[in-house]
Amino acid sequence: MSENRTVLKVLRGEAVFPPPLWMMRQAGRYLPEYRATRKRAGSFLDLCYDPDFAVEVTLQPIKRFGFDASILFSDILVVPHALGRDLRFEEGRGPVLTPITAAEIGLLKTETFHVNLEPVYETVRRLRTSLPRETTLIGFCGAPWTVATYMIAGHGTPDQAPARLFAYREPAAFRSLLDILAEQSAAYLIRQVEAGADALQIFDSWSGVLDEASFRTFCVAPVAKIVSRVREVYPDVPIIGFPKGAGANYAGYRGETGVNGLGLDWTVPLEQARQLQAGGAVQGNLDPLRLVAGGPALAEGVDAILGKLGGGPLIFNLGHGITPETPIPHVEEMVRLVREAKR
Ligand code: CP3
Repeated sequence: MSENRTVLKVLRGEAVFPPPLWMMRQAGRYLPEYRATRKRAGSFLDLCYDPDFAVEVTLQPIKRFGFDASILFSDILVVPHALGRDLRFEEGRGPVLTPITAAEIGLLKTETFHVNLEPVYETVRRLRTSLPRETTLIGFCGAPWTVATYMIAGHGTPDQAPARLFAYREPAAFRSLLDILAEQSAAYLIRQVEAGADALQIFDSWSGVLDEASFRTFCVAPVAKIVSRVREVYPDVPIIGFPKGAGANYAGYRGETGVNGLGLDWTVPLEQARQLQAGGAVQGNLDPLRLVAGGPALAEGVDAILGKLGGGPLIFNLGHGITPETPIPHVEEMVRLVREAKR
């Protein structure tokens, strides 16, 4: 039963060795079976909104590698899409949205939000019944700041300058956008837990571009709100926060947001990671390019993490998503290195 889910044990603060492992973006283009299903589905969004396809691709990496956690297959941008913003994914370009203006923020459609996301909830329900009992099912959402950056710019940017400028020039409108996203994302996560998610992860992929004050108001405060809303309904559900690139701002993040687990990107020094582990579980943080390179770069990266963090609560993961060019034998090698590790 769920007592055997090692990822949940670690998130409660237990040290498990060898540590449980999974990979961010584990269902993705590096897998030929993912590329085949994606082709059958048509577009990326068709894949996200069709429970048959979404379940199929979520299970692919579990079948192949036997990871300890399965993350729902979807995207952080289904939230603005479900609020009525248009969204498409272009080959080689990533997500494209119509940039939102200050005047449009009040027009976001919250009434049909859950109806639009029903296929995602159905996917979660089916996953919980299809997954091995010992596999933790992770639901997720994007953090309001990261989701807002895409809504404002309309596409990915290297430094999120459009969103930062919007936030400084139109502070009231920006605050209301973050508020709406926090409330809706909390409701979205609550539904995912209701449907069978055992744990949740909040992705703040762009928290590394902000100054100290903006990190507090744009990243910490909205995530703290989501965590408290979810905990009003599910006081015990474990939540992993991933403030990618937060650097020195990682130190206060767990305490200030209330998350149980801290997702660490690969730039976090392992000594700092060890100190963060004194406060609870950490997840990470292999450089995804060590996995692309394989060989000694991979073995040394895995060893360093296990050596420094293996004695405490650790979920082994990459420091960001796996990239499409990663060779599958390198993933198999990483799984072997972690699973056969000795203390
Ligand atoms: O981790 C998983 O396996 C679960 C599924 C998942 C996806 N996106 C699938 C996806 C999750 C958790 C995400 C999160 C996500 N999406 C984030 C936060 C984490 C991060 O990576 O920083 C962000 C910023 C997005 C927005 C997004 N979606 C971008 C920028 C892109 C284009 C980049 C790319 O890799 O193509 C996507 C597309 C996307 N989301 C793909 C997948 C598997 C690739 C789409 C394809 O099949 O072509």
